[in-house]
Amino acid sequence: MSETLLRVSGLKTYFYTASGVAKAVDGVSFSLDRGEVLGIVGESGSGKSVTSNSIIRLLPPQTGRIVAGEILFEDRDILKMSHKELLEFRGKEIATIFQDPMTSLDPVFKIGKQMVEMICAHQKVSKAEARQMAVDALNRVGIPEPEKRMESYPYELSGGMCQRVIIAMAVCCKPKFILADEPTTALDVTVQAQVLDLLKDLQKEMNTSILLITHNLGVVWEMCDKVMVMYAGNTVESADTKTLYSNPLHPYTWGLLDSIPRLSDKAKEDLRAIPGTPPDLRLTGQCCNFYNRCPYMTEECRASVPPLVEVEPGHFVACHRQNGEKKLVRGEGVTNHE
Ligand SMILES: Nc1ncnc2c1ncn2[C@@H]1O[C@H](COP(=O)(O)OP(=O)(O)OP(=O)(O)O)[C@@H](O)[C@H]1O
Ligand code: SF4
Ligand SMILES: [Mg+2]
Repeated sequence: MSETLLRVSGLKTYFYTASGVAKAVDGVSFSLDRGEVLGIVGESGSGKSVTSNSIIRLLPPQTGRIVAGEILFEDRDILKMSHKELLEFRGKEIATIFQDPMTSLDPVFKIGKQMVEMICAHQKVSKAEARQMAVDALNRVGIPEPEKRMESYPYELSGGMCQRVIIAMAVCCKPKFILADEPTTALDVTVQAQVLDLLKDLQKEMNTSILLITHNLGVVWEMCDKVMVMYAGNTVESADTKTLYSNPLHPYTWGLLDSIPRLSDKAKEDLRAIPGTPPDLRLTGQCCNFYNRCPYMTEECRASVPPLVEVEPGHFVACHRQNGEKKLVRGEGVTNHE
């Protein structure tokens, strides 16, 4: 039987700026089972990183605030943890992998020193044991001559190698949960595939849960058990990956799927973008946030926020037109390319 590791309920994270309150995440809920991989997709600015940063409470203290919701990790409410508990929790149970590995590595210390310190901070082992663990982990993630690499500074390694070091650190801590925010976006395509394969292998081996944020729907298909599509701070659709790709029901999801380049796309002009731009996050929450870009928009869409409804087991959609009266044809009016 599956066991829930993380449960996020009604999360709202707002930014209080001089020009107003931006509702970056405005009522997002999801759960993640042990060993499961959840992908979060959506255009730039849709609230993916703010959602994941809220889980580890990594928000700018002056402006960012979690104003509502609950984040349960096993039976502990992350939002109620003291600073000390939070630091311990971040170090022991969660590993984070960001787009730029340099944000996680200290440029002035050698790789080995950073790894040994990190291991000793979280596990009761001697320095010599920690060093051996670090070498083994670097070896495990495919870094050649790991002993030698322990003596390198981060700037002496390529971006792909640094990302492997971050993953090696995760291997040493055996975290229950990996939070990966666009972990391969900054890497070459061939290195991207290697790093993702590595993550997938480790996830299987350690039965780790992963929250994977990506713009790449191909990566989601390869890596994720389920997907959540975000738009303007809200979930607009979520389902297991197969269902979402075979039976997408939200017009925004159709737009995202239609924007995947296909082999049949001969020219650059064939690449499709969703027309229009996302709304101002200071003004959302009165209607369907997608209404100004949606070809199916009706007065109802402008008058009220569509609730997130379970339309089939495990498949949730927030769109007023899911009542079965008018089954929409995917792509109709959104794109016209077939
Ligand atoms: N430090 C901040 N101060 C003010 N507003 C912010 C801040 N960080 C994020 N936001 C707001 O939250 C929105 C969502 O940001 P977020 O970083 O989660 O987007 P994203 O979905 O991760 O986009 P991307 O794909 O570009 O990484 C932004 O559009 C912005 O309006
Ligand atoms: S609620 Fe209306 S505007 Fe929003 S996605 Fe559905 S049809 Fe389009
Ligand atoms: Mg982001």
